[in-house]
Amino acid sequence: MESLKNNLLLQALAGEEVPRPPVWMMRQAGRYLPDYRKIREKYSFFECTQKPEIATEITIQPVEQVGVDAAIIFSDILVVPQAMGVEVQMVENTGPVIPSPVRSEDDLKKLCIPDVEERLHYVFDAIALTKKTLDGRVPLIGFAGSPWTLFCYLVQGKSSNSYDKARTMLYSNPALSHQILEMLTKVTILYLKNQVKSGADCVQLFDSWGGLLGPEMFNSFSLKYNQEIIQALKDDCPVILFSKGAWYGLGAMSQSGAHALGLDWHIRPEVARTWAGDKMTLQGNLDPALLFSSGTDIKKEVRKMISAFGSQRYIVNLGHGILPNTPVDHARAFVNAVKEME
Ligand code: CP3
Repeated sequence: MESLKNNLLLQALAGEEVPRPPVWMMRQAGRYLPDYRKIREKYSFFECTQKPEIATEITIQPVEQVGVDAAIIFSDILVVPQAMGVEVQMVENTGPVIPSPVRSEDDLKKLCIPDVEERLHYVFDAIALTKKTLDGRVPLIGFAGSPWTLFCYLVQGKSSNSYDKARTMLYSNPALSHQILEMLTKVTILYLKNQVKSGADCVQLFDSWGGLLGPEMFNSFSLKYNQEIIQALKDDCPVILFSKGAWYGLGAMSQSGAHALGLDWHIRPEVARTWAGDKMTLQGNLDPALLFSSGTDIKKEVRKMISAFGSQRYIVNLGHGILPNTPVDHARAFVNAVKEME
């Protein structure tokens, strides 16, 4: 294996002793960075993901400009449904829109299991180029949306607070729901395996809407499929599972085979440690809104958070993606507060 100059993330994932916890931010490559916005004036969002040179440049921006301990490949969770034959638009100020959502057996016929290597080769090319350009500075994180979170977009057709149509379908047509989730699981396994083959050092599953389900529904419609993916990947690389809002599932998730569990800010570190067990690496969980506070307050909260989680088996992160208008200086203050521990 090539040697990484900064290996903190992989060490924390392996449960090895580290001089200080690694730090990165969900959605760290994005709109809060002026250089990202500049690129977006010239290219559409999906063009940025499809051009490996551009995706590489955006991926590395937070490594060079903010100093995070890991890069996460610039792409989107919705490239998977796109590759399965679904039209996905990224609408300014609205987010993703799927003009023809999947709501019936007939709609299901529009979904295919694609040749992943061919349809998503641009992601794998971007990973290979990023890996080469990083030249071992920090590890590269690959990612995918969880089947349940992709299902939310596929069925709802757009962003929503409740994903009511998606949740309704689980009760009205569980068989069709499982069929869709099974297809998404199959494609996601192939997708993530290819990301690792192309150079991703570990992967994160974004189950952003896991917490919209009650505990039993969470087990049957979210965790079941995430576990299948994690088991299929366990010989390839470490997996971080982030089921946002699903604090009640931490005990069950700790049995899934995941190497780390991501947390949002709705749970106390001490409670998460108890429920996940002391062998599990935890990741999170600063409220992204705190990055609008002063540098002094950010530093104070980061220190409090690290002393609550402990510096071992822990990855410093936000509890969800960094907000678009966050001052870059404040993102830096967040990262530096961790690095000052060394
Ligand atoms: O983390 C990173 O820096 C890597 C890139 C990344 C993006 N999306 C880029 C992006 C990652 C890991 C994602 C994951 C993603 N995409 C999730 C899971 C994480 C989460 O936040 O819950 C979800 C739910 C999506 C779907 C999605 N993509 C939405 C809802 C939106 C619009 C709203 C938003 O937050 O911007 C996107 C667009 C998107 N994906 C942007 C970026 C940088 C903004 C596009 C732009 O306007 O330039």
